[in-house]
Amino acid sequence: MNAPQNTGNENIPAHVAIIMDGNGRWATARGLSRTEGHRKGAEAARHVVEAAGELGIRYLTLFAFSSENWNRPADEVNDLMNLLRYYLKKETAELHKNGARIKVIGDRSALPIDIVKLIENAENLTRDNAKITVVLALNYGGRQDIIFAAKELARQVRADETDLATVNENSFSRYMMTGDIPDPDLMIRTSGESRISNFLLWQMAYAELYFTDTLWPDFSKKDLKDAVAHFSGRDRRFGGLSQSHEIQG
Ligand code: FPP
Repeated sequence: MNAPQNTGNENIPAHVAIIMDGNGRWATARGLSRTEGHRKGAEAARHVVEAAGELGIRYLTLFAFSSENWNRPADEVNDLMNLLRYYLKKETAELHKNGARIKVIGDRSALPIDIVKLIENAENLTRDNAKITVVLALNYGGRQDIIFAAKELARQVRADETDLATVNENSFSRYMMTGDIPDPDLMIRTSGESRISNFLLWQMAYAELYFTDTLWPDFSKKDLKDAVAHFSGRDRRFGGLSQSHEIQG
């Protein structure tokens, strides 16, 4: 069976994926613009990346812009792109200094060219860092990810580079945009919504799901620790029996 890999300490999730939701509501509740909420959200992201490193989390995926976010008003999309520029310019050196590898998943062909350059620069600069991998999902959609993977597989089969008969869950996983990283063990969504919203659909098959009412700009290091503590108390079976069950027979 294709059990997800969990590297390192069993009690600490190797890979945490987060849907950072609630920036708009956070701002509206304070009479601020939605952009102010996103700005505060980017600050929360910085603290959470730091906390993830401290906790020994090896992979942290942040859903920063979904393929559906283009449907927002042009001004808000523009402000989000500006924030992204700012974040990539400002955080890359700091993340590099702290041993973080930056990886971006999503369809970058629709992103502004200067942002694509910033992404390439961040990925190249940090490619050999091993403490933590920070994955930014930008213009990402889970269904698109599966379609891109299926198309690449079809191309390889047609070109006689891959034998269709040998394709299984493990080999198919490698065609996904997350091909070189383990599946998420824990998915967190803030702001009281309990949906997956086209995030890592294939990859989250066995992830523990953690929903909290906290709005993303308020999400602190302590909130991340609480989510991890919740995860540690869970009994993950991947469709089999729990360990205690096996010991008892
Ligand atoms: C959801 O809040 C959040 C987003 C659509 C964007 C997430 C972006 C950030 C946190 C800032 C950039 C971060 C990085 C790491 C570059 P919402 O606007 O849907 O909030 P609402 O549901 O309350 O309206």
